[in-house]
Amino acid sequence: MNTTELAKGIYSVGAIDWDVRDFHGYSTYKGTTYNAFLIIDKKITLIDTVKRTHKDELLRNIRAIIDPEKIDYIIVNHVELDHSGSLPDMIELVKPEKIFCSPMGKKTIISHFHREDWPFEVVKTGDEISLGKRTVHFIETRMLHWPDSMFSFIKEDGILFSSDAFGQHYATTERFDDEVPLSDVMIESAKYYANILYLFSPLIRKLLKNVAEMNLDIKMIAPDHGVIWRTHIDKILEAYDNWSQNKAGKKALIIYDSMWHSTEKMAHAVAAGLKETGLSAKLINLKVHHRSDVMTDVLNANTVILGCSTLNNGLLPRMAGFLMYMRGLKPTNKFGASFGSFGWSGEAVNLMNTALKDMKIDVIEEGLRLKYVPDSAHLDECIEMGRRIGKHVLESVESKKETI
Ligand code: FEO
Repeated sequence: MNTTELAKGIYSVGAIDWDVRDFHGYSTYKGTTYNAFLIIDKKITLIDTVKRTHKDELLRNIRAIIDPEKIDYIIVNHVELDHSGSLPDMIELVKPEKIFCSPMGKKTIISHFHREDWPFEVVKTGDEISLGKRTVHFIETRMLHWPDSMFSFIKEDGILFSSDAFGQHYATTERFDDEVPLSDVMIESAKYYANILYLFSPLIRKLLKNVAEMNLDIKMIAPDHGVIWRTHIDKILEAYDNWSQNKAGKKALIIYDSMWHSTEKMAHAVAAGLKETGLSAKLINLKVHHRSDVMTDVLNANTVILGCSTLNNGLLPRMAGFLMYMRGLKPTNKFGASFGSFGWSGEAVNLMNTALKDMKIDVIEEGLRLKYVPDSAHLDECIEMGRRIGKHVLESVESKKETI
């Protein structure tokens, strides 16, 4: 059993998935948790369920506190199947009096489970329900990250149940942010943001502003994945504020893949040129780094330089796949450039520049293409490219500061 009392009568009853290593293309080396919460009040309420594979663990945890059949209400903050997979089984067992969800939540639940006869009670932003001693205040968070997503806030205890927002894929029996190393939690939070929420940054900025204006007295943020924030709430809110504003450090990533090490040699030479200017550079070989880790780096860097050999008039498949993935996550406010070795046609650099421009990344030069294997003069060209990019980026950052 893994139940923890968050506040008097409010329990964490979700499940830990120690083994999951892939979340539709996102590498989850540390596993995850599917958080669900039980509120003991006049109306006994379950907030969210768990992935169907972990239904028995949810039930064991609930049974350690009460008979699940005593549950009156189920609140569905998010319909994605890692949180609603057990919903049909729970409804069958519990026969709840009401299921609270957003307007889009009802539509999405019906689209998943095809049960229009369930006792839905649709709630919108600002709606409140009484559980007895407690009041639940609802806030729709459309497209964060699904159309159905919403927050539920228990006013009397100051607990914000935030669905996927502020979550981390981080399996641990500890339930609070102050029980695990903060650096681990922040890294996993950044990875979660970069791979799940990045494309919704404008909406997150708006949501943070709206929530601040509501003056909620938030004492705890309980997401649907990972640990619950009670000590470092300011840190995660500040991080979300920075990420959603695309504030990134003065740092260049050289993300590359190489057939016979020529593009790799170019990558190292570009890095040497960047280093001379004082712009921090990180080499990322796509053969050894997972795309979702690379996205965490992209979140925190203001410059993305791509390197790839040409294969069959196109890109190497790892670079093609990475660019497809990155494009969907819509990173903005960055500088970019491309380079690569080729044999006879050499389309890769143009393809990478086009992809960067499509993402509205500021491509600062047309790119460097070298035939077959670079000699030392070629590598000097790469070093020079690194110097030009480093100088441009650092000068641009300074001039931006001066105009603020
Ligand atoms: Fe954790 Fe969007 O589901």
